[in-house]
Amino acid sequence: MLKVSGLHASYGLIPVLHDISLTIASGESVGILGHNGMGKTTLLRTLIGALRAHAGTVHLNEVDITRYAPHVRAKLGMAYVPQGREIFPTLTAMDNLRMGLVKTGATSLQPIEALLEDFPRLKPLLGRLGGSLSGGEQQLLALARALVGRPTLLLLDEPTEGIQPSIIEEIADTLASLRERMQLTIVLVEQNLEFIAAVSQRVLVIKRGQVGDEIPRKHLSDLSVMSQYTGVHS
Ligand SMILES: Nc1ncnc2c1ncn2[C@@H]1O[C@H](COP(=O)(O)OP(=O)(O)OP(=O)(O)O)[C@@H](O)[C@H]1O
Ligand SMILES: [Mg+2]
Repeated sequence: MLKVSGLHASYGLIPVLHDISLTIASGESVGILGHNGMGKTTLLRTLIGALRAHAGTVHLNEVDITRYAPHVRAKLGMAYVPQGREIFPTLTAMDNLRMGLVKTGATSLQPIEALLEDFPRLKPLLGRLGGSLSGGEQQLLALARALVGRPTLLLLDEPTEGIQPSIIEEIADTLASLRERMQLTIVLVEQNLEFIAAVSQRVLVIKRGQVGDEIPRKHLSDLSVMSQYTGVHS
Protein backbone atom coordinates (compact mmCIF):
# COMPACT_ATOMS: atom_id res chain seq x y z
CA MET A 1 0.00 0.00 0.00
CA LEU A 2 2.80 2.42 0.94
CA LYS A 3 6.19 2.23 -0.69
CA VAL A 4 8.91 4.68 0.20
CA SER A 5 12.15 4.55 -1.78
CA GLY A 6 15.35 6.48 -1.17
CA LEU A 7 13.58 9.35 0.57
CA HIS A 8 15.67 12.38 1.55
CA ALA A 9 14.34 15.46 3.35
CA SER A 10 15.88 18.43 5.10
CA TYR A 11 15.07 21.65 6.90
CA GLY A 12 16.84 24.32 4.88
CA LEU A 13 20.36 23.07 4.43
CA ILE A 14 20.20 20.63 7.34
CA PRO A 15 19.57 17.10 6.08
CA VAL A 16 17.31 15.02 8.33
CA LEU A 17 16.18 11.98 6.36
CA HIS A 18 18.90 10.08 4.52
CA ASP A 19 17.75 7.46 2.11
CA ILE A 20 14.65 6.08 3.86
CA SER A 21 13.11 3.03 2.23
CA LEU A 22 10.23 0.97 3.54
CA THR A 23 7.23 -0.95 2.30
CA ILE A 24 3.98 -1.39 4.17
CA ALA A 25 1.25 -3.77 3.06
CA SER A 26 -2.45 -2.97 3.15
CA GLY A 27 -3.92 -3.67 6.61
CA GLU A 28 -0.54 -3.81 8.27
CA SER A 29 0.29 -1.96 11.45
CA VAL A 30 3.91 -0.90 11.53
CA GLY A 31 5.68 0.80 14.39
CA ILE A 32 8.62 3.16 14.00
CA LEU A 33 10.77 3.43 17.07
CA GLY A 34 13.55 5.92 17.61
CA HIS A 35 15.17 8.36 19.99
CA ASN A 36 14.38 12.04 20.14
CA GLY A 37 15.53 13.98 17.12
CA MET A 38 16.14 10.94 14.86
CA GLY A 39 13.69 12.14 12.22
CA LYS A 40 10.45 10.34 13.09
CA THR A 41 8.21 13.40 12.84
CA THR A 42 10.08 14.57 9.76
CA LEU A 43 9.36 11.23 8.10
CA LEU A 44 5.62 11.47 8.80
CA ARG A 45 5.51 15.11 7.67
CA THR A 46 7.24 14.16 4.44
CA LEU A 47 4.80 11.27 3.92
CA ILE A 48 1.77 13.56 4.25
CA GLY A 49 3.35 16.19 2.04
CA ALA A 50 3.85 18.93 4.64
CA LEU A 51 7.56 18.78 3.90
CA ARG A 52 9.06 18.37 0.44
CA ALA A 53 11.15 15.31 -0.38
CA HIS A 54 14.53 16.29 -1.87
CA ALA A 55 15.02 12.91 -3.43
CA GLY A 56 13.27 9.59 -3.51
CA THR A 57 9.65 8.61 -4.06
CA VAL A 58 6.50 7.84 -2.10
CA HIS A 59 3.91 5.56 -3.70
CA LEU A 60 0.43 5.06 -2.29
CA ASN A 61 -1.39 2.12 -3.84
CA GLU A 62 1.07 2.26 -6.71
CA VAL A 63 0.39 5.93 -7.44
CA ASP A 64 3.45 8.18 -7.23
CA ILE A 65 2.31 10.83 -4.72
CA THR A 66 5.77 12.30 -4.08
CA ARG A 67 4.77 15.71 -5.45
CA TYR A 68 1.12 15.68 -4.35
CA ALA A 69 -0.18 18.39 -2.00
CA PRO A 70 -1.31 17.32 1.50
CA HIS A 71 -5.04 17.79 0.74
CA VAL A 72 -4.76 15.53 -2.31
CA ARG A 73 -3.06 12.85 -0.21
CA ALA A 74 -5.87 13.21 2.33
CA LYS A 75 -8.43 12.62 -0.44
CA LEU A 76 -6.51 9.49 -1.41
CA GLY A 77 -7.00 8.12 2.10
CA MET A 78 -4.10 9.39 4.20
CA ALA A 79 -4.77 10.79 7.66
CA TYR A 80 -2.31 12.16 10.18
CA VAL A 81 -2.47 12.67 13.93
CA PRO A 82 0.39 15.04 14.71
CA GLN A 83 2.67 14.93 17.70
CA GLY A 84 1.14 17.16 20.38
CA ARG A 85 -2.35 16.41 18.92
CA GLU A 86 -3.03 19.95 17.61
CA ILE A 87 -6.70 19.99 18.41
CA PHE A 88 -8.37 23.40 18.20
CA PRO A 89 -8.49 24.56 21.84
CA THR A 90 -11.19 27.22 21.37
CA LEU A 91 -13.54 25.00 19.39
CA THR A 92 -15.81 22.45 21.04
CA ALA A 93 -14.93 18.78 20.77
CA MET A 94 -17.83 18.40 18.32
CA ASP A 95 -16.54 21.23 16.13
CA ASN A 96 -13.09 19.63 16.18
CA LEU A 97 -14.71 16.48 14.80
CA ARG A 98 -16.54 18.57 12.18
CA MET A 99 -13.18 19.89 11.01
CA GLY A 100 -12.25 16.29 10.24
CA LEU A 101 -15.34 16.02 8.02
CA VAL A 102 -14.67 19.18 6.02
CA LYS A 103 -12.20 17.55 3.66
CA THR A 104 -14.69 14.82 2.79
CA GLY A 105 -17.38 17.27 1.70
CA ALA A 106 -19.93 15.33 3.79
CA THR A 107 -23.00 17.36 4.67
CA SER A 108 -24.50 15.08 7.31
CA LEU A 109 -23.06 14.41 10.75
CA GLN A 110 -23.77 10.71 10.39
CA PRO A 111 -20.08 9.76 9.96
CA ILE A 112 -19.32 11.45 13.29
CA GLU A 113 -22.22 9.75 15.05
CA ALA A 114 -21.15 6.37 13.69
CA LEU A 115 -17.53 6.83 14.71
CA LEU A 116 -18.43 7.96 18.23
CA GLU A 117 -19.66 4.43 18.94
CA ASP A 118 -15.98 3.54 19.13
CA PHE A 119 -15.15 6.54 21.31
CA PRO A 120 -17.65 6.33 24.20
CA ARG A 121 -15.45 8.51 26.39
CA LEU A 122 -15.89 11.42 23.96
CA LYS A 123 -19.69 11.33 23.86
CA PRO A 124 -20.33 13.32 27.05
CA LEU A 125 -17.54 15.77 26.16
CA LEU A 126 -18.78 16.97 22.78
CA GLY A 127 -19.91 20.39 24.03
CA ARG A 128 -16.67 21.09 25.92
CA LEU A 129 -13.92 23.24 24.48
CA GLY A 130 -11.04 21.21 23.10
CA GLY A 131 -8.57 23.06 25.30
CA SER A 132 -10.44 22.07 28.46
CA LEU A 133 -10.06 18.33 27.84
CA SER A 134 -7.33 16.25 29.49
CA GLY A 135 -4.32 15.20 27.42
CA GLY A 136 -5.73 11.69 26.97
CA GLU A 137 -9.16 13.00 25.98
CA GLN A 138 -7.52 15.36 23.49
CA GLN A 139 -5.59 12.45 22.02
CA LEU A 140 -8.78 10.41 21.60
CA LEU A 141 -10.39 13.48 20.00
CA ALA A 142 -7.46 13.94 17.61
CA LEU A 143 -7.66 10.26 16.68
CA ALA A 144 -11.41 10.43 16.13
CA ARG A 145 -11.02 13.63 14.08
CA ALA A 146 -8.52 11.87 11.83
CA LEU A 147 -10.84 8.89 11.41
CA VAL A 148 -14.16 10.60 10.59
CA GLY A 149 -13.05 10.93 6.97
CA ARG A 150 -12.64 7.10 6.87
CA PRO A 151 -8.98 7.07 5.84
CA THR A 152 -7.26 3.90 4.72
CA LEU A 153 -3.79 4.89 5.96
CA LEU A 154 -3.39 6.40 9.41
CA LEU A 155 -0.13 8.02 10.48
CA LEU A 156 0.25 8.54 14.22
CA ASP A 157 3.00 10.56 15.86
CA GLU A 158 3.68 9.63 19.50
CA PRO A 159 0.06 9.32 20.61
CA THR A 160 1.06 8.31 24.16
CA GLU A 161 3.27 11.33 24.83
CA GLY A 162 2.31 12.85 28.18
CA ILE A 163 -0.76 10.65 28.64
CA GLN A 164 -2.06 8.68 31.66
CA PRO A 165 -1.49 4.91 31.46
CA SER A 166 -5.23 4.11 31.71
CA ILE A 167 -6.02 6.12 28.58
CA ILE A 168 -2.94 4.72 26.80
CA GLU A 169 -4.47 1.26 27.13
CA GLU A 170 -7.82 2.53 25.89
CA ILE A 171 -6.15 4.11 22.83
CA ALA A 172 -4.36 0.83 22.07
CA ASP A 173 -7.64 -1.14 22.33
CA THR A 174 -9.52 1.39 20.19
CA LEU A 175 -6.83 1.28 17.51
CA ALA A 176 -6.76 -2.52 17.48
CA SER A 177 -10.51 -2.84 17.02
CA LEU A 178 -10.77 -0.03 14.47
CA ARG A 179 -7.87 -1.40 12.48
CA GLU A 180 -9.67 -4.65 12.00
CA ARG A 181 -13.10 -3.22 11.25
CA MET A 182 -12.04 -0.27 9.08
CA GLN A 183 -9.23 -2.25 7.44
CA LEU A 184 -6.86 0.49 8.38
CA THR A 185 -3.18 0.50 7.62
CA ILE A 186 -1.29 2.13 10.48
CA VAL A 187 2.14 3.73 10.74
CA LEU A 188 2.83 4.46 14.38
CA VAL A 189 5.77 6.52 15.54
CA GLU A 190 6.40 5.88 19.23
CA GLN A 191 8.91 5.74 22.04
CA ASN A 192 6.63 3.82 24.42
CA LEU A 193 7.74 0.21 23.99
CA GLU A 194 4.68 -1.39 25.53
CA PHE A 195 2.30 0.61 23.34
CA ILE A 196 4.26 0.04 20.16
CA ALA A 197 4.38 -3.69 20.90
CA ALA A 198 0.61 -3.77 21.58
CA VAL A 199 -0.35 -1.95 18.39
CA SER A 200 2.27 -3.02 15.81
CA GLN A 201 2.82 -6.22 13.87
CA ARG A 202 6.31 -5.11 12.91
CA VAL A 203 8.62 -2.50 14.34
CA LEU A 204 11.30 -0.63 12.42
CA VAL A 205 14.01 1.34 14.16
CA ILE A 206 14.92 4.76 12.79
CA LYS A 207 18.36 6.10 13.59
CA ARG A 208 19.83 9.34 12.33
CA GLY A 209 17.34 9.61 9.52
CA GLN A 210 17.70 6.04 8.27
CA VAL A 211 15.67 2.89 8.81
CA GLY A 212 17.96 0.45 10.56
CA ASP A 213 16.93 -2.82 12.15
CA GLU A 214 13.55 -4.43 11.94
CA ILE A 215 12.68 -5.98 15.28
CA PRO A 216 11.51 -9.55 14.75
CA ARG A 217 7.90 -10.21 15.74
CA LYS A 218 8.83 -12.69 18.42
CA HIS A 219 10.74 -9.97 20.26
CA LEU A 220 7.89 -7.46 20.35
CA SER A 221 6.49 -8.78 23.61
CA ASP A 222 9.88 -8.91 25.33
CA LEU A 223 10.51 -5.38 26.53
CA SER A 224 14.04 -6.08 27.70
CA VAL A 225 15.01 -7.33 24.23
CA MET A 226 13.16 -4.43 22.60
CA SER A 227 15.04 -1.87 24.65
CA GLN A 228 18.34 -3.38 23.51
CA TYR A 229 17.53 -2.40 19.93
CA THR A 230 17.23 1.23 20.75
CA GLY A 231 18.40 1.92 24.24
CA VAL A 232 14.88 3.37 24.74
CA HIS A 233 13.26 2.41 28.04
CA SER A 234 9.53 2.55 28.55
N1 LIG B 1 11.26 23.00 11.70
C1 LIG B 1 12.52 22.59 11.85
N2 LIG B 1 13.57 23.35 11.43
C2 LIG B 1 14.86 22.93 11.56
N3 LIG B 1 15.20 21.73 12.08
C3 LIG B 1 14.22 20.94 12.51
C4 LIG B 1 12.83 21.32 12.42
N4 LIG B 1 12.09 20.31 12.93
C5 LIG B 1 12.95 19.37 13.33
N5 LIG B 1 14.22 19.72 13.07
C6 LIG B 1 15.43 18.92 13.35
O1 LIG B 1 15.37 17.74 12.58
C7 LIG B 1 15.82 16.62 13.32
C8 LIG B 1 14.74 15.56 13.36
O2 LIG B 1 13.59 16.10 14.04
P1 LIG B 1 12.25 15.29 14.20
O3 LIG B 1 11.25 16.23 14.81
O4 LIG B 1 11.89 14.64 12.94
O5 LIG B 1 12.69 14.17 15.25
P2 LIG B 1 11.82 13.13 16.07
O6 LIG B 1 12.48 11.80 15.86
O7 LIG B 1 10.39 13.26 15.72
O8 LIG B 1 12.07 13.62 17.58
P3 LIG B 1 11.10 13.59 18.86
O9 LIG B 1 11.16 12.20 19.39
O10 LIG B 1 11.74 14.56 19.79
O11 LIG B 1 9.73 14.01 18.43
C9 LIG B 1 16.21 17.16 14.69
O12 LIG B 1 17.59 17.36 14.67
C10 LIG B 1 15.46 18.46 14.78
O13 LIG B 1 16.17 19.39 15.59
MG1 LIG C 1 8.77 13.81 16.77
